[in-house]
Amino acid sequence: MEQYMIKGGNPLVGEVVIGGAKNAALGILAAAVMTDKACYIDNIPNVKDTRTLLQAIEGIGGLVERQNTHRVMISGSTIQNSENLVIDDEFIRKIRASYYLLGALLGKYKRAQVALPGGCNIGSRPIDQHIKGFEALGAKVTIDHGMIIAEAEELRGSHIYLDVVSVGATINIMMAAALAEGKTIIENAAKEPHIVDVANFLNSMGANIKGAGTDVIRIRGVKELHGTDYSIIPDQIEAGTFMMAAAATKGDVLIKNVIPKHLDSISAKLVEIGAYVEEFDDAVRVISKERMKSTQIKTLPYPGFPTDMQPQMAVTLALSEGTSIISESIFENRFKYVDELSRMGAKIKVEGNTAIIDGVESFAGANVVAPDLRAGAALVIAGLCASGVTLIDKIEYIQRGYEDFEGKVRALGGIMEKVETEQEIKKFKFQYAV
Ligand code: UD1
Repeated sequence: MEQYMIKGGNPLVGEVVIGGAKNAALGILAAAVMTDKACYIDNIPNVKDTRTLLQAIEGIGGLVERQNTHRVMISGSTIQNSENLVIDDEFIRKIRASYYLLGALLGKYKRAQVALPGGCNIGSRPIDQHIKGFEALGAKVTIDHGMIIAEAEELRGSHIYLDVVSVGATINIMMAAALAEGKTIIENAAKEPHIVDVANFLNSMGANIKGAGTDVIRIRGVKELHGTDYSIIPDQIEAGTFMMAAAATKGDVLIKNVIPKHLDSISAKLVEIGAYVEEFDDAVRVISKERMKSTQIKTLPYPGFPTDMQPQMAVTLALSEGTSIISESIFENRFKYVDELSRMGAKIKVEGNTAIIDGVESFAGANVVAPDLRAGAALVIAGLCASGVTLIDKIEYIQRGYEDFEGKVRALGGIMEKVETEQEIKKFKFQYAV
């Protein structure tokens, strides 16, 4: 079982290059099966979630040719379109984004059967808005023994108003509607950068999608999609995580290969609490020297402060001066890291969807367990700030979304290693004299 060991205390200094956006990649990889032609996709982050989805695509007969670590060719031509096309394996249940195959296959074959999605346990994650969208397009959707089955004689464009702003539902409906007959309008659509990226990808395959990135998306269905060669946008959350790590460790990091606009809400909060943030065309530099100040944050759909950055921000605020308040408005179960952080000395009280954080001067290293992906990343930042050694368990969550986290941290001067055996743990402790 792999774990991370971190010896805290070093400020992160230097340059880090951000990989492709995991959440865009998941939508794009699924959308690639919507054509029988070859789709070349570049800048795919080599993380567990994308590897799992690629395995699932192979599992249904899709052709997946890995051209290098970050580039893949996918073709749906070898997928057998039959009643037996069922997507259900032990991997697919683990990732939330398996539901994108539902929209993609429904669009292409007018039938899809996929195991109900898993993913991070950060609250109940209903899919009623996805189903509402598919039904509006003319599909019949049933749930049977943990499987979602969507089928339609034909898909017809429709006017869909989402009751909640949902990233997943927006992408799923967009995919199915791309191959529906006539025009679809999605209102109250999510506006996240990865929605725009999936729309751009589909358009590069011949789809006709307009307005992605605003709350009204208009899709004119086309008969079929063709092959493409496409490069995925940089990961907003990986970038934000390194921005936060730079600030929390009182470091100086140039975060390269980003779209600074996507990071506005994170930059603004960092500046507000006392960090220096400089924007370049495709990089941001974060410098912090003093102890940060407190603030109030509410997570919101894009362009608001992302829920996926909430735990990392909480770590920074837990070391800042004064009392901060975080309200989580997207998922109800996203403070599970608080108990772990408390073991390191943080003073955080959770009441409902609000965390009240009393900043402390320092953390002390401890043995902690990553409760989910982003909370796990937050514990890494906490470990980098703490005195002594932190051992993080269940890093498989972190590996779902961060490629070579330990390598990138080490290149910035942090001390972090992936360990697997008792001997490796002992060696780390010996090496860092603890
Ligand atoms: C995606 C991201 C996840 C991020 C989240 C919010 C992927 C693979 N995951 O998750 O990292 O934290 O967006 O930015 O891209 N909801 C419903 N009914 C639905 C769908 C959603 O009530 O049918 C609710 C959810 O419970 C949640 C809110 O809407 O409260 C937002 O969820 P959504 O945007 O759909 O998140 P995901 O797509 O699951």
